[in-house]
Amino acid sequence: MTKTPLACVILAAGQGTRMKSTLPKVLHAVAGRPMLGWLLETVQALSPERIIVVTGPEGQAVRSYAAAHTIAVQKEQLGTADAVKAALPALENFKGTVLVLYADGPLYQEKTLRALLHARRGAEAAMAFLAMYPDNPDGYGRMITDKDGYLTQIVEHKDATETERQVRLCWTGIMCADADVLRAGLPLIRNENMKREYYLTDLPVVIDGKTVIAESPLEDTLSANTRGELAVLERKMQDRLRARAMENGATLIDPASVYFSWDTIIGRDVVIEPNVFFGPGVRIADDVHIKAFSHIEGAVIESGAVIGPQARLRPGTHVGRDCKIGNFVELKNAKLGAGVKASHLGYIGDAEIGDNVNFSCGAITVNYDGVNKHKTIVGADAMIGSNVNLVAPVTVGQGAYVAAGSTLTKDVPADALAVAREKATIIEGWASKKRKKT
Ligand code: UD1
Ligand code: CA
Repeated sequence: MTKTPLACVILAAGQGTRMKSTLPKVLHAVAGRPMLGWLLETVQALSPERIIVVTGPEGQAVRSYAAAHTIAVQKEQLGTADAVKAALPALENFKGTVLVLYADGPLYQEKTLRALLHARRGAEAAMAFLAMYPDNPDGYGRMITDKDGYLTQIVEHKDATETERQVRLCWTGIMCADADVLRAGLPLIRNENMKREYYLTDLPVVIDGKTVIAESPLEDTLSANTRGELAVLERKMQDRLRARAMENGATLIDPASVYFSWDTIIGRDVVIEPNVFFGPGVRIADDVHIKAFSHIEGAVIESGAVIGPQARLRPGTHVGRDCKIGNFVELKNAKLGAGVKASHLGYIGDAEIGDNVNFSCGAITVNYDGVNKHKTIVGADAMIGSNVNLVAPVTVGQGAYVAAGSTLTKDVPADALAVAREKATIIEGWASKKRKKT
């Protein structure tokens, strides 16, 4: 059997006024990635021949985000059928199946969309509509079926009679059709309804062929019109990401308190304590232990490392094997070799730190002179004492010692000791003299 070519049309023309935002609704992030990005990834898994994103004339931000795909512009928001019509020129000469989706459904899974495509193919139907049974059907289009279970009509909530409103089977906003069916049907749709809009839901009425229904898991169908609903999506997505981390062999002591980004990669036998946040761009190898209250973004952590509690890893961090990064240590744009210890209170930024270096309590790199950032290089096995300021650009050679309390502004050769602080002055009997005076 030859595969039927697939095209996807994603409707993203709405601004989403209820988000009260300058950012278009579909660019609001869930687990660190725009809603539209999630959907694009899911439809790409279906290997479509083309993806067409329909935006409004004002949708410049959406167009830039989706620039890798075909863009169509709907000039005026005349309804969902009109929006799909705007994609037709980009479907010229296309033979196959067209999958139509709203852009604000980040939770749709590949298998749900495949089930819809499969339902149409299996029944050799003209169209297939994805259905759901929402807890509260208010506002959704009700799906009216005939005695054989084929879809005859979708009635919008506003246009529905009391009896029709009793129907609990609702349309999700996702459908697929043969491309020729869309080309033939869309021009026949009229706007004689409460909203004076061209409804995509009228297709089954204007087309003679069979229309079948596939059912979606309710969780997939969640979308967000408000910030409150966005938070609900976030929770569901986080639950999925937590489940995925655990399925892949990580222990989450309190899963609900760990937040992942869409692209977080976690190895096996990783233990994550409560209240840990992962921003984008984190990759963690096997056997890493992340202790409570750590904030990690843009970081690679090699196996055997122990991070936190209360560590902050910022973008550009690379933590080598078996490193120990303790409480109140911040790393930024720093490459740490294997076995580095920075156990308490420190900042390592714009640095290259060799294997087995010890950064004692309170030692920091002074990387910023108010205008530019400078680099610190520390050779393997060096010992940086407590409260040392490494004023960059500076290099500490292999195996060298920098004495506690030093403010180091010069390079230190390998194996040397650097002391850069006042000598202690001791004045015997000074205190009792002072007490007598006052
Ligand atoms: C639509 C369906 C309804 C379904 C519900 C599921 C229609 C007529 N109704 O209702 O049956 O149960 O979704 O959520 O389709 N859009 C455009 N251009 C337009 C109009 C809309 O791109 O001219 C886009 C919007 O960005 C929006 C989406 O299509 O995200 C849905 O349009 P909307 O008017 O909000 O339809 P609903 O009332 O949600
Ligand atoms: Ca809607």
